[in-house]
Amino acid sequence: RMHDTLALRGRIVTFRDNPFVTDPIAALHHEEDGLLIIRDGRIERVGAYADTLPHLPDGTQVAHYPGCLISAGFVDTHVHYPQLPMIAAYGEQLLEWLERYTFPTESRFRDPAYAHDIARRFLAELLRCGTTTAAVFCTVHPQSVEAFFTESERLNTLMIAGKVLMDRNAPPDLRDTAQGGYDDSLALMERWHGRGRQMYAVTPRFAPTSSEEQLELAGALLARDDSVFMQTHLAENVDEVAWVRELFPARRSYLDVYAHAGLVRPRAILGHAIHVDEPDLATCHDSGCTLAHCPTSNLFLGSGSFRLFDAMDPRRPVRVGLGTDIGAGTSLSQLQSLNEAYKIAQATGHRLHPAQAFWLATAGGARALHLDHRIGTIAPGMEADLCILDPAATPLQALRAQSCDSISDLLFSLMMLGDDRSIRATYVAGRLVHERA
Ligand code: GUN
Ligand code: ZN
Repeated sequence: RMHDTLALRGRIVTFRDNPFVTDPIAALHHEEDGLLIIRDGRIERVGAYADTLPHLPDGTQVAHYPGCLISAGFVDTHVHYPQLPMIAAYGEQLLEWLERYTFPTESRFRDPAYAHDIARRFLAELLRCGTTTAAVFCTVHPQSVEAFFTESERLNTLMIAGKVLMDRNAPPDLRDTAQGGYDDSLALMERWHGRGRQMYAVTPRFAPTSSEEQLELAGALLARDDSVFMQTHLAENVDEVAWVRELFPARRSYLDVYAHAGLVRPRAILGHAIHVDEPDLATCHDSGCTLAHCPTSNLFLGSGSFRLFDAMDPRRPVRVGLGTDIGAGTSLSQLQSLNEAYKIAQATGHRLHPAQAFWLATAGGARALHLDHRIGTIAPGMEADLCILDPAATPLQALRAQSCDSISDLLFSLMMLGDDRSIRATYVAGRLVHERA
């Protein structure tokens, strides 16, 4: 409700800087006993409890979370809501996995009632995991987009979503046409982009399932409006990369297929980007596009290791966000994504500091989506999308938390041991939308 004021008390954790560029500890801002005042869905004031209390309007409710951390809500930069029912499908790598499990599941979204049901469950799961913003693939059916945005609007969550474009190399009932996909996307874009907190993403599934004409028309849609997003998949799997080379022999690389069609630009989110080379990363830097690191998915499908620290090289940094990529991903919890991101870094000779990790899941994700002026940090004027993290959600975690003597240690134990149970509560635009039982 508007004109509502509420306040949260707890240990506040947020970022004042980019921990991939400056000292990670210095980039992290931490208020041991903090108070946060929210008015009309935005953060009005934040600081030490003792300093901020005098500014609290008389009669304001204070939700106190002793022992918990108050963080910006998590940002998931790559996820498929229609794949929620087929999470954890056994035994295949990407191309066979799509044929055998993904396409049959996505066929069901022709039915609007089914789409609404799964959209509602998906958004509830996201909020249970502390994720308040996501870039979401729907299916080829316009009604799957309508269902998703309707449910998101009801929750007032800030979501990016779009209709999958797919006019070849897919089952007939999941194919659109270049012109039909353009027309349906344009109608959805005009209906939903910028309506409340909803935003549209032009969504060609990936190069193998779109004709050159469809990719060109996706570029034409984007050329109409700089504020519209683009999302797709890039160089996830070696067989996929070989197939794209056959389908587009004139292009220097997989990325170049998209660049040629005008799809590589700010607010373009490319999932995976595992099998890319240095010229590709230079193109990403120059164009201002975003790569989505999807750790649990890349391990689950055996796709390979995303080179996070190469991508984020301060000499030519590329924007990177974190994606769960459900249903190829195995958890909607960004804490679980960070767990696997840490191990991938270890296996590739790098060390992902907990401050860097939590930045990727919050402020960095918001920046990767060009939304850092609205979400991702806790500061006056920001939209109050928050999650309350409990570092002692289980007996083992409570034991581990006892021997954490710094905020970095505590964040690290949360990202290695935490999941949905770690989310004590979630707020969307200042409204409590999830509270752990
Ligand atoms: N590439 C094309 N479609 C998909 C998808 O649905 N999931 C993943 N992980 N990769 C894809
Ligand atoms: Zn994906």
